[in-house]
Amino acid sequence: MRILGIETSCDETGATVIETESENKKVKLISNVLASSLSLHSKTGGIIPETAAREQIKYIIPVIEQALLKVRGSTRGVDVQNPAGFIDSIAVTVGPGLIGSLLVGVETAKTLSYIWGKPIIPVNHLFGHIYANFVGEIHNSEFIIHNSAADVQFPAIALIVSGGHTDLVLIKNHGSIKWLGGTRDDAAGEAFDKIGRLLNLPYPGGPSIEKAAKNGNPKAFRFPRPMIDSDDFDFSFSGLKTAVFREVKTIKQLNNETIFDISASVQQAIIDVLLVKTLRAAKKYKVKSILLGGGVAANQKLREEFQKKLITHNSELITRFFVPPKNLCTDNAAMIASAAFYNYKEVSWRKLTADPELYFD
Ligand code: KG4
Ligand code: ZN
Repeated sequence: MRILGIETSCDETGATVIETESENKKVKLISNVLASSLSLHSKTGGIIPETAAREQIKYIIPVIEQALLKVRGSTRGVDVQNPAGFIDSIAVTVGPGLIGSLLVGVETAKTLSYIWGKPIIPVNHLFGHIYANFVGEIHNSEFIIHNSAADVQFPAIALIVSGGHTDLVLIKNHGSIKWLGGTRDDAAGEAFDKIGRLLNLPYPGGPSIEKAAKNGNPKAFRFPRPMIDSDDFDFSFSGLKTAVFREVKTIKQLNNETIFDISASVQQAIIDVLLVKTLRAAKKYKVKSILLGGGVAANQKLREEFQKKLITHNSELITRFFVPPKNLCTDNAAMIASAAFYNYKEVSWRKLTADPELYFD
């Protein structure tokens, strides 16, 4: 089966083609194209929804065309003018996200579905971040599955950490996802972005703080670890932002050394909370796998600390750790097509609507 995936929930415009074999449950990434309006948002220090959607209208057709053209080079040819014979279904993000952005993808998917006579599989963007862990790629004609994701064993805990979400979910099996807890205010990525702005670092704050943190001391400032000991799986990061704000006001003149130290200390505070709460959930539900996903999962320190902790805990916690390659942590269409394959529910284009508030059931 071949699925065309489309993702336009925020500021990125992504299209992908994946090929799957239902016998061995593997997702092969054939093409993955992404157009970003990030440079425009860097100028304004954040995403302006109207600008994002306008850019997506410009990009969506060329990005889909590119994704289909790349298929020609890798497997059997596809006629870009009429790929109906090549594509079996169309997967598209229906929410959560910015309404204008979501509509660009949803309306395009509906049109293609009508013209090609192919079904649509609506995908929850948050499921997409989880299923980025199940995507494999072809390198020099050889199929490589990252982290041997086909070996993910259930039950599993997934931590989704992105710009809009911080959620812990329990996955009993494909299609059976139970929400355990989430952020009560700012998401982890949002905290990185807002603190980045306080430190005058370029947008988005996550990668900028990660870079600055490399030269800093994570123990220089003792920032709060909000809700680290709370008896639930909820998170809160707005207090951390306020603590940094106060510190920055006290310091008045920020020099590079202080920016590096604050960055390293903030990064460590966020990692500590994410790690402790995820491991607690993993123990409580005796899971066999832990999956990370979302833009913040691209953070190298976070990846390393999870890896390290799981190895140290191995005698009491027999858990395998999975994290997607960095380019599949941030928004992309491959994760959407992958989620569609593992949670395959076709709908007619007539029934498809965008839902900006979509969440876990
Ligand atoms: O998943 P994503 O691309 O979009 C959403 O669905 O929100 O995540 C974007 C978020 C931004 O807040 C960005 O600052 C953060 O992910 N991010 C990072 C890193 N790369 C992206 N945060 C920490 N370290 C990184 N390396
Ligand atoms: Zn996302």
